[in-house]
Amino acid sequence: MSPNLKQAAELIRQGQCVGMPTETVYGLAGDALNPKALARIFEIKERPTFDPLILHISPKILSRLNEWVTFKNPKQEVTFKKLSGKFWPGALTILFQKKPIVPDLATSGLPEVAIRMPNHPVAQALIDEVDRPLAAPSANKFGSISPTTSSHVLKELGSRVTLVLNGGSSLIGVESTVIRIHDDSIEILRPGGVSQEELTACTGLRVNQSTSSHGTLSASPGTLDNHYAPKTKLFLIPTSLLGAPIQDLKNWVWDLKKKHGAKKIAGIMLSASHRSKFETGSQLLADKWFSLSEKNQPTEIAHSLFAILREVDESGVDLIIAEPVTEKSGLWPAIEDRLKKASTKR
Ligand code: TXA
Ligand code: MG
Repeated sequence: MSPNLKQAAELIRQGQCVGMPTETVYGLAGDALNPKALARIFEIKERPTFDPLILHISPKILSRLNEWVTFKNPKQEVTFKKLSGKFWPGALTILFQKKPIVPDLATSGLPEVAIRMPNHPVAQALIDEVDRPLAAPSANKFGSISPTTSSHVLKELGSRVTLVLNGGSSLIGVESTVIRIHDDSIEILRPGGVSQEELTACTGLRVNQSTSSHGTLSASPGTLDNHYAPKTKLFLIPTSLLGAPIQDLKNWVWDLKKKHGAKKIAGIMLSASHRSKFETGSQLLADKWFSLSEKNQPTEIAHSLFAILREVDESGVDLIIAEPVTEKSGLWPAIEDRLKKASTKR
């Protein structure tokens, strides 16, 4: 075992927190059964305590799941078995009824607890070594962009955490899908790395997006508006302008610049192959362009999304415009959700 991993496990046993790589985004991990460690997580992140945490387990401790949760009924357990067989380890977080041993702080006082088994060797090794579930929200300050590399974590929380384990850049790049299993359906509280279609194919059940309106706490408390937001104002280009004459888009950009007193603006396009949509001969719609992928591949876009948002945010512009997502399947809803939450409400 690497000395870092040993040290990380020791820190966690003492009730401290460490940066932990996962395949979705980096987490800020602490002992999920120690209220002091949980309080420290909220403190480091400046996260309101009404936003509950995800508990991370490994294949080794899966057999102890019933120490922490109960199933509502046999139907729920059958669906869980199918889902965990297919998507664990992976980017799927499932809600269960919690047992009293799980501190109320982990669930913000809610009766359900969220659990995920990350598919990252370093995360699994750390959980194995501590031999307990680890609570781990994304390792960013509340409301800011989730980190997908250890240097993102160090930059944002470096002075507040003793150790950040390096596990390379997170392969998926957007957070896990959070679901609740009902008797005859599945409810998606947060779209993420596992798609609606995959959930349907695996279970044969109806899969619904949670219908609660954004900005309320009724569905998944972390699904607040203006979550994953850069510091620079970001506006999504209205979909209606994509097929319209380029002059309409130019007017929209012009109005936006005027309204916000912006001089220098950056544009984010989903794919480098979309460049022509945003080019107007000699007049460019933005001073700098960033593309999230070469050929509009959602896996590539998800992987680079948060890193590029950080890069654009630090590029010295006054305003950011971004190409909206129009596709609906696979990873697209997760990408659309994160872009919408990164955007400024007008
Ligand atoms: O991919 C991920 O899920 C990453 C990595 C580190 O595992 N973690 C992550 O955690 O995104 P966090 O805390 O940034 O987001 C957790 C989401 C929030 O939207 C929260 O509201 C929801 O999960 N959640 C957690 N427990 C819940 C509960 N008991 N009921 C409803 N939603 C819950
Ligand atoms: Mg987060």
